[in-house]
Amino acid sequence: MTEPRHPDRPAAPPAPTVASSVTGEILGDLTTKRRRPDPTAIVIFGATGDLAGRKLAPALFNIMLDNAMAEPTLIIGVSRGELTAQQFADQLSPRVTEFSRQKVEPAAWTKFASTLDFVGGEFDKDATYTALKAKLDAAAAKGTRGNRVFYLSTPPAVFPLILQKLQQHALIERAVQQPGKPSCRVIVEKPFGRDLATARQLNEMIGSYLHESQIYRIDHYLGKETVQNILVLRFGNSIFEPLWNRNHIDYVEITAAESIGIEGRGAFYEATGVVRDIIQNHLLQVMSLVTMEVPASFAADDIRDEKSQVLRSVRNLDLNDVANHCVRGQYRGYRDEDGVAHDSQTPTYAAMRFMIDSWRWQGVPFYLRAGKKLAERLTEVNIHFRAVPLVLFKEEAAGSVLQPAVLTLRIQPHEGISLRFVAKVPGENINVGNVLMTMTYADAFKRPISEAYERLLLDCMRGDATLFNRRDSVDRAWELIQPVLQIWEATPGVHLYDPGSVGPPAADEMIGRDGHSWRELVRG
Ligand code: BG6
Repeated sequence: MTEPRHPDRPAAPPAPTVASSVTGEILGDLTTKRRRPDPTAIVIFGATGDLAGRKLAPALFNIMLDNAMAEPTLIIGVSRGELTAQQFADQLSPRVTEFSRQKVEPAAWTKFASTLDFVGGEFDKDATYTALKAKLDAAAAKGTRGNRVFYLSTPPAVFPLILQKLQQHALIERAVQQPGKPSCRVIVEKPFGRDLATARQLNEMIGSYLHESQIYRIDHYLGKETVQNILVLRFGNSIFEPLWNRNHIDYVEITAAESIGIEGRGAFYEATGVVRDIIQNHLLQVMSLVTMEVPASFAADDIRDEKSQVLRSVRNLDLNDVANHCVRGQYRGYRDEDGVAHDSQTPTYAAMRFMIDSWRWQGVPFYLRAGKKLAERLTEVNIHFRAVPLVLFKEEAAGSVLQPAVLTLRIQPHEGISLRFVAKVPGENINVGNVLMTMTYADAFKRPISEAYERLLLDCMRGDATLFNRRDSVDRAWELIQPVLQIWEATPGVHLYDPGSVGPPAADEMIGRDGHSWRELVRG
């Protein structure tokens, strides 16, 4: 160990500079059984809507650029309005150019456009489905072999109608998916119900047309690279799992902060609010990955069993919890947005505390918060470890100086992992400082990160449902937030906050009462 330098001794020559670095070495694919996607016809209902232009078409285009698409893969848009295939492609072109992860070169676009087709018509008209059937038959003849994915990118209110018509026209058939037989899968977009009762009805309804193995409930957070990495970090390293419990972890924060507002979606947002939009699905899913037990294997249902199991162990919130451990906020100016009531109580911000009654997590609070128009765009999981016993450092001040370690799983932006811990500052005194060690995917593996929708569409085409939500965990997530929705919708009391701020001070007070604090959001 290097001795501290005596003040009279000459200073040692400067040490050679060692650049701080993160290097990544690719070790191999753990998912050796991952199949290539099957040649498929993808039918997008709501093909002229925002999601299709912003996410679905750019994702499919990038899958094609990465040569991950099976040949042939044909994409059929279904929407109101009469468009030729060429007009449909022309309509998508500027959106793909704007939202594609990779540059849109003319030759690649021409190839992509040649896979597009369009059926114009109302969802309640038989003619729409007759035309669709003709296109699907033609696709099968071109080599899609009858494999089909229906993407319901429409308001949930029309799901029953579409499914009923698809069944009536023999385009879907309720059956367990068998290898070697033409596949028939349906992707359902959120919001998946608006409360427990409607989610159950929706599940019942969809379940009457399709077997659970055919239903792909999408939660795009689960397709994010860093969310998937939670499992590899936890179960691929022996150093974390022994610490991953109540003995070592003090509390966990999960934040999804957005700097944007509701982006013109006033009517949708008024009926939804942040709890349904982000917490019921995205954040509870992330929490289940952080807290689940080791699965028997990486097979879809083994992982989904464990996620569902941990959600069952989350303590139900009562009136008292909602009053003391849940905070709602609304950004100033929200009520002036189009489609928003002038006295709206819809929360654009929510923070809440959950406890998990399990052997592993008893007594560890999980704080979830999400909000629009906040200071920073950031999605992060912060695992706060317990403080050290202070007897070692006899100074009275040690308690305030020695900050406990924090492991951060950075979901976006600057995807990566960091660890904050204390280290001695060089010098005679035991001066301690915080050190932040950060790994970003961009530095470590020098590989672009695909968009969540790319991963999820590919998984659906290959019949892998691991990253999609199963019925039981959707139900349980609704059950968990139901008391919050009920109480908040029955009583006004939203806290206003300034756009660009960290949210309502009541959220700081809520976590502060437990002796904890949120990770600070910083205006960029
Ligand atoms: C969607 C919500 O599910 O997620 C939006 O409906 C939100 O309101 C979006 O903006 C955030 O997703 P991402 O991937 O940009 O963090």
